[in-house]
Amino acid sequence: MKTQVCIIGAGPAGLLLGHLLRAEGVDCVVLERQTPDYVLGRIRAGVLETITVSLMERLGLDARMKAEGLWHDGVNLADGERLIHIDMADLVGNRVMVYGQTELTRDLMDAAPERDLEVIYEAADVALHDVESDAPYVTYTSDGTQHRIDARFIAGCDGFHGPSRKAIPASVGQEFERVYPFGWLGILADVPPCNHELIYANHERGFALASMRSNTRSRYYVDVPLTDKVEDWSDDRLWDELAIRLGPDAAAHITRGPAIEKSIAPLRSFVFAPMRHGSLLLCGDSAHIVPPTGAKGLNLAASDVHYAAAALTGFFNKSSNEGIVAYSDTALARVWKSERFSWTLTKLMHRFPEDGPFERAMQVAELDYIATSRAAQTSIAENYVGLPV
Ligand code: FAD
Ligand code: DHB
Repeated sequence: MKTQVCIIGAGPAGLLLGHLLRAEGVDCVVLERQTPDYVLGRIRAGVLETITVSLMERLGLDARMKAEGLWHDGVNLADGERLIHIDMADLVGNRVMVYGQTELTRDLMDAAPERDLEVIYEAADVALHDVESDAPYVTYTSDGTQHRIDARFIAGCDGFHGPSRKAIPASVGQEFERVYPFGWLGILADVPPCNHELIYANHERGFALASMRSNTRSRYYVDVPLTDKVEDWSDDRLWDELAIRLGPDAAAHITRGPAIEKSIAPLRSFVFAPMRHGSLLLCGDSAHIVPPTGAKGLNLAASDVHYAAAALTGFFNKSSNEGIVAYSDTALARVWKSERFSWTLTKLMHRFPEDGPFERAMQVAELDYIATSRAAQTSIAENYVGLPV
């Protein structure tokens, strides 16, 4: 098979890129290792920035999101005693959309056939070849048969563990990494949220986050040692812990219910540079990971795709190589700022095992500063709604 862009991975990055390219008449094929149900079964992000919402609007795929998603004008930080309200609408005139990654992915998946976007699921042994040349190709196995896709470009949208980043020689790339000494235990339950906006809490027992998917479905997290297993946390134990860490006001409004999903995700900051090598462009988690504090992972994937789609359509439709040459620097400039924000908020809201009284005093001072400074709140609001692309 021959195409213009071979996209590896049908997560949000790969599907968004595929739709944006097809909308501009660029040929592409998406290769995904898993089944559609498996991809939709992964419960991940829930907060969308303007960039992600506007890409869905541009594609005309925003109807269900606008009908079922929740606009949030504000977000809260809790320090055990008070709720610090960050009024994003007032501070920066912008807001975020609460709409699950699963739902966004489903909207993109469902629209693929009618938009002539070919997605090949259950593609095994995906391998990239000749990425430094102008004629790269991808091989994969399907139903026991080996296939080959020749392309002008390959877009590596295959997440942190996919083969794309590994196709770039170690001598060319640089990795920046910080692994955190805890994970987030998440619970999804069909119960009303305890608050109409999100609450990120730093309690002496650890971090907690109250989030939601809708007015009838809640998502909560606590941080746990990396040695903990999901089986260590019965639903009751987790609800008890959330009630303590989120504080008495929120606890009074927590509705308990059985977990639909419960899992532990490790926390990591990671950046791979450059994000392009020859004819291979990396987008999303294949190039970078942020800790989830701040809800930036999915939104960064969307901003990469925004730049990559512009670069690739410029190449094919305007014979311009400019966007391709600039892609890595342009994308990384925004990536690093989101890395900074996610790292800062993670440091502020978690108790690190290695921290002593000084580090704790710095957290208290910082939270007190945020509570009393419009400038500090504005900075958080500006980053939380998403920096401009
Ligand atoms: P992915 O969603 O990982 O998609 C990559 C796709 O590539 C997958 O479908 C995968 O199956 C496919 N693939 C992988 N290898 C191959 C291969 N060999 N061949 C073909 N296809 C392949 N972000 C937040 O903002 N908030 C959260 O709460 C949050 N929770 C998270 C929890 C977990 C466990 C993880 C892993 C991430 C979480 N994130 C969260 C981050 C967010 O979900 C990601 O940033 C987002 O999914 C990135 O999208 P992506 O398309 O780049 O990668
Ligand atoms: C959710 C996840 C996050 O990482 C975050 O910062 C906010 C919300 C969520 O899953 O709802």
